[in-house]
Amino acid sequence: MKVSVQNISLTKFKCDLLVVNIFEKVKKPGGATGVIDDSMENHITKLISSGEIEGKLGEKTLIHTFEGLPACRVVVIGLGKREDFGLDKARVASAAGIRVGKQVKAKKVATIIHGAGFGGFDIADAAQATVEGAILGAYEFDGNKTEKAPHQVKDLVLVEKDRRKVKLIKIGARIGEIVANAENNARDLVNSPSNKVTPTYFAKYAQKMAKAAGLKCTVLDPKKRGMAAIHAIAKGSKEPAKMVVLQTRASTRGPRVALIGKGVTFDAGGISLKPSKKLWEMKIDMAGAAAVAEVMRAISQLKLKKDVIAVIPLTENMPGGGALKPGDVVSSLSGITTEIISTDAEGRMILADAITYAKRLGAKIIVDCATLTGGCITALGETASGIMGNSDKLIEDFKAAAERTGEKVWPLPLFKEYKKYLRSTVADQKNCTEGMGASPSVGGTFLHKFAGNTPWVHLDIAGTANISIAKGYLKKGATGVPVRTLVEFIKS
Ligand code: BES
Ligand code: ZN
Ligand code: ZN
Repeated sequence: MKVSVQNISLTKFKCDLLVVNIFEKVKKPGGATGVIDDSMENHITKLISSGEIEGKLGEKTLIHTFEGLPACRVVVIGLGKREDFGLDKARVASAAGIRVGKQVKAKKVATIIHGAGFGGFDIADAAQATVEGAILGAYEFDGNKTEKAPHQVKDLVLVEKDRRKVKLIKIGARIGEIVANAENNARDLVNSPSNKVTPTYFAKYAQKMAKAAGLKCTVLDPKKRGMAAIHAIAKGSKEPAKMVVLQTRASTRGPRVALIGKGVTFDAGGISLKPSKKLWEMKIDMAGAAAVAEVMRAISQLKLKKDVIAVIPLTENMPGGGALKPGDVVSSLSGITTEIISTDAEGRMILADAITYAKRLGAKIIVDCATLTGGCITALGETASGIMGNSDKLIEDFKAAAERTGEKVWPLPLFKEYKKYLRSTVADQKNCTEGMGASPSVGGTFLHKFAGNTPWVHLDIAGTANISIAKGYLKKGATGVPVRTLVEFIKS
């Protein structure tokens, strides 16, 4: 979908669908909706008083126009209550509008900027949210279906009649386009099956992406690099493990930030084999890796002059003949040794080597995101990612970024008591406990040992990376979480 901005009045713009909006409980259309033209304003007023239009968030009322307007149709999207409105509601409204566009087979959709025009929101932020909602809302994964893809809107035009606002709208729209497309790419990777997205495939994908985006990309063989922890996990699979490193090239400022994403392309659990129920879902265990790779693309396209590296450990977790076994002791790049209690707690092993490698590359701030524990889904559901770390300041900064993107995070503790859970008699620590609970925090505690004093945040995205029911602008399946928040965090 091509996104553009035009300095023109709604009454003059020719398109297949014009998207306008309305708050809940208003008696008359106001703002841009009110200025479409007089007869349309009267008509919408009638629909409000008759009760058809209530203005509830995401409500869609399609009106076919006749001679009055150059646009063939107008859709009035509900924004919900004015006092509850925020940028995330703008995304939901925009997704509702574009989905009507798809439904009526519109090629060119024009929209007003949701969240603009009533104060409170920066016009560039409102434009960004409108574009993000549209691109994310239009997303469809047709993967390997032989049937033709459903109709897609070709052109999205943000229409603004005040010439002075156009420059800022263009800036916001471009940011929204880059970020949302990156997020959709991440969703494609996560939704794709594990027989396609293997560690080798992912590494090639990263190389190709890096070339297109102007990033540096190195693919390392963990076995040859002393990365014993990731190697131990990969031993049960025929697919070779990879450690992918991406780096921004532009002249950069500020401390080096490392983004680390768990890249288990399929998690069978290893010898601690998972039950077969929903096992197919374990193709999503590389959602952290997908997000991090696409964030690198986005920050390069946004030309952010920041020193950012991504360290992406990639492997399958399979129960092959050479597999790691419970009770085994394995080393790591850092030299810290681990007693394996469950081979299904594999994510933290591969992240351990990635964290150590990031530190060796001079990272001053580390953010890791990983579909790490089922316990995080129990605690927070599909609604929020768990956030932990060793720096309150960093956690606060990350929470502020998440607030702006609508990708909810919720703090979980790293109490020092959890260290005892991991005490081992044969190694420096165990990789997990058996039945003592608090698995997200215990996972975080394991990683903390490798992060040490380097400021670090850990995001457990087990519940949020893949959703079983659609919400707002996101369909069932991969969400692309936390692409937007990571970009926002790097930007700020
Ligand atoms: N990949 C899983 C966690 C997961 C579960 C992600 C469901 C998404 C949906 C992870 O590797 C795992 O198996 N974790 C174990 C840890 C336990 C053995 C300490 C878990 O949560 O059961
Ligand atoms: Zn596992
Ligand atoms: Zn896993």
